[in-house]
Amino acid sequence: MRHPVRLNLAVGLLWLVAVVGQAAEHPPGYALSSAHPAATAAGAEILEAGGNAFDAAVAVSAALAVVEPTGSGMGGGGFWLLHQADSGRDVMVDGREEAPSAATATMFQNDAGEAVSSLSRDGPLAAAIPGQPAALVHLAEKYGRLPLSRTLAPAIRLARDGFPVDGHLLARLAYRFQTLSRSPAAARVFLPGGSLPEPGSLIRQPDLAAMLELLAAKGRDGFYAGPMAQRLVRGVREAGGIWQLQDLASYRVRERAPITFELNGVRVVSASPPSSGGVVLKQVMRVLSLTDAMEQPSVDRKHLVIEALRTAYRDRAAWLGDPDHVDMPIDRLTSEAYAREIADAIDLEQARKSDDLVPPQTLIEEGEHTTHFSIIDAEGNRVAATLTITLSFGSAFMVPGTGILLNDEMDDFSAKPGVPNAFGLIGTSANAVGPGRRPLSSMSPTFVETPERVAILGTPGGSRIITMVLLGILETLDGSDATTIVSRPRYHHQYLPDAVYYEPGAFSDEEMATLTERGFVLKSAGREYGNFHAVLWNRAQATLDAAADPRGIGTSRVELTPDD
Ligand code: DON
Repeated sequence: MRHPVRLNLAVGLLWLVAVVGQAAEHPPGYALSSAHPAATAAGAEILEAGGNAFDAAVAVSAALAVVEPTGSGMGGGGFWLLHQADSGRDVMVDGREEAPSAATATMFQNDAGEAVSSLSRDGPLAAAIPGQPAALVHLAEKYGRLPLSRTLAPAIRLARDGFPVDGHLLARLAYRFQTLSRSPAAARVFLPGGSLPEPGSLIRQPDLAAMLELLAAKGRDGFYAGPMAQRLVRGVREAGGIWQLQDLASYRVRERAPITFELNGVRVVSASPPSSGGVVLKQVMRVLSLTDAMEQPSVDRKHLVIEALRTAYRDRAAWLGDPDHVDMPIDRLTSEAYAREIADAIDLEQARKSDDLVPPQTLIEEGEHTTHFSIIDAEGNRVAATLTITLSFGSAFMVPGTGILLNDEMDDFSAKPGVPNAFGLIGTSANAVGPGRRPLSSMSPTFVETPERVAILGTPGGSRIITMVLLGILETLDGSDATTIVSRPRYHHQYLPDAVYYEPGAFSDEEMATLTERGFVLKSAGREYGNFHAVLWNRAQATLDAAADPRGIGTSRVELTPDD
C-alpha cells in the first residue's frame, strides 16, 4: 500500500515548512466538475467572464436546477462550502429547507401511529420551504463579483431554449412516472402527451426561466415575497400542502462554521449540522488514526473503516438534528477520548453486531438524485456544494405557473423514532418533524488539505454520501489522482441494517472471504452508486486535476491561465 502522506510526515516538519513555503499561492488556472456537461459549461462561462468561484457556483447550481431536475433545484436546498482565498476563511452556507410552521411531529403517521412513507415522499405535504433561491442570492450578494442577471443567464437560456433528454434523465422519469403524472404542471414539462419524452428531444421550461429572471431582478423577494410567493402558497395548499406566506417570508440562509479538524498533518473541512457529514467524518477519521488504519493491510483497513462507521452512524441516529433546535454532544462525539473507546471496542478478528451497540431499523431505496459540484478558481477560492430535492424529482409536484418542482426533504426527518426513511436511516426526537426545523442531512461537501494538495470533494447518494466522502478522503491521503478518487469501487455500512453493501470490485475475493469469516454480512449493492466530483490542486507541483464520476454523465474541466 502506498502511504505518501505518512512518508511525508516521516520527513518531518521541516519538509512541511519547505513545501508550504515553496507552494504556489494560487492555482495555475481554474478547475471544476459537475454532474452535467451544460452545468460545467455554465460555470466555465462565468469564470471566463471574470467571475470568481462563488459566481460560478451560482451559475452551476442554477444550471443543474434546469438540466438535472431529478437531483436538485430551485424548489430544494443544499450546503455550499466556501473557502475564501484572500482571508483563508472557510464557511458553510446552509440553504437547507425548513419545515413549514404548521408541521407537527406526527404529520407523517396514520391514525394507528404508523409512519406512512408516501406522505413524506410524494406531493406537496412532503415539501419543506426551499432554501436554494435564498442561497444563490446570498452567494451572489456576499461573495460574488458579478450580478445575478449575468450568473443566472446560462440557466435562463437552458430553461427557455431547452436541453436534450439524456438516458439518465429518461431512466429517472420512468422511475417517478406515476407520481409525476399526478402533477399536471410537472407532466406538462417532463411527460409530453402524458408519455416519456423521446431521447434527444428538447425539454423547455419557460416558467422556470421566468422564475429565474424574477430572482435575478428582485433578489430574494423574487421568490419569498410578492406574486411568486403567493403562487407557491396557493399551489401548495390547493394540492393538500400546509405552507403559509409567513413561512416563505421568514426563511433565512444561515452561515455556519464548518466542522474542521486536523489529524496527522491533514486538515479536513466538512459540513456541520444540520448535516451529519462532518461529525461522522471527524469521529471516523479519529478512530482510523488511533488504529493506524492507513498502515494496516487492505482488509484490516476496510474492517476498521466498517467498524468506525457502525458506531458513527449509530450516533448520528441517536443525537444529530437541527443545531438551532436541539442540543448535540458534538464535542464528546468527536473527542479523542470517545474515539479511543470506540477503537478499543474493535476486534480485528471478529465483526461486532450492530444490535449489541444500542438503538433501531431496514432497506435502502435505490435511485440517483441530489447533486454535487466542486470548483476552484485561479485565485484559490473554492466551492464544494451538495444540493438536493431528496428523491428523484423531489416530491414530483410542480407548483402550477412557477416551473418549480418541490422537494420532499420532509422525508429526511424521522417520521417516527426508529422507523427508517427512504435511505434506511433511523432517528430519534433529535430529528423529529417540527415547525421551522431543518431536517438532518448526510450531504458532506468537503475540503481536504494535505501538505501538498487541496482536494474539493463530494457526491450525492443519501445515507451513503458520508462513506463515499470518507473513502474519497482516504484515496486523497493515498495520493490518488482525481479519476481514481471518483472511480474506485465503494463499500458502505450505516449501523443498521447491519450489513456491508459493496459495489463489484470493492473487495478482492480474498478480502470477501476474510471479512465473511470475521462475521461481517456482505451484500452486493446491486448496482453502482454515487456521482462523485473531485477537484485537486497540487500546491507543490502547481498542477490542477479534476474528474467527474464515470457512473454519471458529468464532465470536468481544467483550464490553465496562459503565461503573460
Ligand atoms: O440531505 C440528504 O442527506 C438527502 N436528502 C440526500 C439525498 C440524496 O443524496 C439522494 N441521492 N441519491
